[in-house]
Amino acid sequence: MLRKIIRFPHPVLKKKAKAVKRVTTEIVRLIDDMIETMQKAPGVGLAAPQVGESIRVIVADIGTGAIAVINPKIIKKSGKQCLNEGCLSLPGVEAPVERAAHVIVTGLDRTGKKATIEAKELLATILQHEVDHLEGLVLVDRVSDPSLIKHVPPASEKKEELI
Ligand code: NI
Repeated sequence: MLRKIIRFPHPVLKKKAKAVKRVTTEIVRLIDDMIETMQKAPGVGLAAPQVGESIRVIVADIGTGAIAVINPKIIKKSGKQCLNEGCLSLPGVEAPVERAAHVIVTGLDRTGKKATIEAKELLATILQHEVDHLEGLVLVDRVSDPSLIKHVPPASEKKEELI
């Protein structure tokens, strides 16, 4: 089921999301809905607060199949990269954000099993961007120089920039 994407500056996007205690059928349904909503948008990543659920669930899809991480934790960061980012909750906004080039993320998969994801390049940026959403941060909070924030017509949104 498609969910409504919450737009900045809605308060849910500024709140620290709560950990998932148990992977229930509701959580699995939320993951399915988030993947459907992300793909329809289209986008390459989505965090639960963006659909109004202040819990620690993220999804991503860089074209190699959707992944979901429950209670994601970045346990290792290395290197630096600066990609131009967008966000489904901030339509028409783009900015270059410096983040780690390589991350290792742990958490649970949709079956409740422990999972470790090693990511670089675009997926590394997406995972950091989505974990930020769980902390109540959006990409503009990560931009050192506000003059780098670009406002582009939403019609020109590109898939890889919307996370
Ligand atoms: Ni986002």
